[in-house]
Amino acid sequence: MVEQQFLPAHVGIIMDGNGRWAKKRALPRKMGHKAGAEVFRKIALYANDRGLKYLTFYVFSTENWKRPEDEVHAIIRLLRNYLDEVDQYRDKNIRIRFLGDLSVFEPDIQKKMGEIREESAGNTGMTLNLAINYGGRDEIVHAARRLAEQVKAGRLAPEDITEQLVAENLYAGDEPDVDLIIRPSGEYRLSNFLIWQSAYAEYVFMDEVLWPDFTPAHLEAALTEYHKRDRRFGGI
Ligand code: IPE
Ligand code: IPE
Ligand code: MG
Repeated sequence: MVEQQFLPAHVGIIMDGNGRWAKKRALPRKMGHKAGAEVFRKIALYANDRGLKYLTFYVFSTENWKRPEDEVHAIIRLLRNYLDEVDQYRDKNIRIRFLGDLSVFEPDIQKKMGEIREESAGNTGMTLNLAINYGGRDEIVHAARRLAEQVKAGRLAPEDITEQLVAENLYAGDEPDVDLIIRPSGEYRLSNFLIWQSAYAEYVFMDEVLWPDFTPAHLEAALTEYHKRDRRFGGI
């Protein structure tokens, strides 16, 4: 096992393959999402025990609204259940945040997310980010708007806009860039996940596993692979 000091500070996971997992079993796609949600719980708790500092899960993208209505509803239902059970994470000293445009969700969901975020804000264990109605481009647009407002109000000059300032205006502007992105299910793409923060990320794509079959051993394999990479950030 990779020693604590060599772990990536921030890991992102694209939880993909729920639909194919269900199809293989002749089950409706929503059963794949249900199984995937269970695995999400297990991996989040394992990662916290393992000493990861920041973990971001891609739960629902800005593009996923294109799916059939009943599938979208099933995913939102799972999200509601999850929000009701989130106490167990708070007890584990996990700090929970939601990344994305949350304004589209019903008021009770937004309220609950706000409460969870606030109640866990002082926790000193792992920071668990849930990317929901999240798109990397959408996030950058939001940051651009916030900066434009400041320019309009006369508090900021355009020439003072730096990379750091853009980064600070992202949804979790105080967190480190993502170091490692893991995607199971054999798709080799980002699908609009953390596009700003992944400029120098390492990628581990896994062909042999769909998200509902993902285990702590798969996470360990990805951490081991990450440890072997030579990160140069443009230097030598
Ligand atoms: C990921 O699994 C879950 C979400 C995108 C919400 P998919 O539903 O994309 O599963 P596949 O890719 O169709 O197998
Ligand atoms: C990415 O998976 C989004 C999430 C895992 C939440 P998708 O299944 O939506 O990505 P594409 O459509 O295959 O690129
Ligand atoms: Mg998919």
